Amino acid sequence: MKKVVIAGGTGFLGRKLTDWLKKDYTAKILTRTPESRVDGEIHWDGKSLGKWQTEIDGAHAVINLSGKSVNCRYHRGNKAEILKSRINTTRVIGEAIQAATDPPKVWINASTATIYRASRGTPRDEAKGELDTGFSASVAKAWEDNFMNSYTPDTRKVALRTSLVLGDGSNSALPILRLLSKFGLGGRIGNGEQMFSWIHETDFLRAVKFLMEEDDLAGVFNVTSPAPIDNRTFMKSLRSELGAPFGIPTPKPILAIGAFLLRTEPELTLKSRYVIPRRLMENRFQFAFPFIDEALRDLFENWRGEKRRKSKNERYPLGKVKEA
Ligand SMILES: NC(=O)c1ccc[n+]([C@@H]2O[C@H](COP(=O)([O-])OP(=O)(O)OC[C@H]3O[C@@H](n4cnc5c(N)ncnc54)[C@H](OP(=O)(O)O)[C@@H]3O)[C@@H](O)[C@H]2O)c1
Repeated sequence: MKKVVIAGGTGFLGRKLTDWLKKDYTAKILTRTPESRVDGEIHWDGKSLGKWQTEIDGAHAVINLSGKSVNCRYHRGNKAEILKSRINTTRVIGEAIQAATDPPKVWINASTATIYRASRGTPRDEAKGELDTGFSASVAKAWEDNFMNSYTPDTRKVALRTSLVLGDGSNSALPILRLLSKFGLGGRIGNGEQMFSWIHETDFLRAVKFLMEEDDLAGVFNVTSPAPIDNRTFMKSLRSELGAPFGIPTPKPILAIGAFLLRTEPELTLKSRYVIPRRLMENRFQFAFPFIDEALRDLFENWRGEKRRKSKNERYPLGKVKEA
């Protein structure tokens, strides 16, 4: 089987991607803290060349999903780490590809849809989407510049401008919103008019595989559902799928307090993100979950079933399932 090297493959999306690809590819994970009992995990420090680079030589693809989570308070130390963790990992992967005698056919690097300027009325696409200024967008630009400027002439490059991925990641917003909605706090956030670009985790995984396998696709791709909605509609859909009869709105000052207590930033929910996947659509990528109601229904149905399996796995982490 062809080999795919996934840097940051221990995270929310990396774990799912490893599982998603395993039928067709052998995955090797670059991580700062490999676990000996987990097959395929290889140590790297995310900033310098080392033994790990032999994995890149001869691999079919490299996918870089590394980066300190943005779901934190933006104080000076966290901001520096958010930037450094993206720049250093991207730079050193470029160096490893340059040093390889048999470079990978394709290098896919994470980026973010937050690179676009906030918008309520004009959808942002890859060709005409105006780029934002400020901390998050400047991180995204530096990240993409490092990626695009890395000289790897024999390796096709794709940057994933991904919107918020709806799934069960521990640092993902959806589990928190679900909990709040169950307690009657699932009303609009702020004035509810900000646009919300999102993608179901399954479509994220499908899009990555698609971009990896379509040999003629390169450059930046918006990885987001084709039907973004405003926050008011999103919260309504969330309540309806959870059967929550009402939802108390969260005005901005309350959100600011909540975000502080949850050690996160209000920007993550207040910025109006109106991004569409023009290039994926032009290249006939088929979304499994283009609309929010079906996406949420599928995720919640899965979680209800998964929960039982998970608690058993967690009780027996070495995989030796004994009857309780
Ligand atoms: N999830 C989303 O909704 C979303 C949306 C847009 C873009 N993205 C981007 O997609 C990528 C993957 O997202 P995710 O949600 O899977 O993230 P995640 O769960 O936070 O995982 C990211 C991985 O990056 C590695 N990492 C963390 N800090 C690092 C550092 N200082 N230096 C080197 N590596 C570090 C970690 O691997 P080790 O600890 O094993 O080394 C971690 O498993 C990220 O770059 C993220 O910004 C995600």
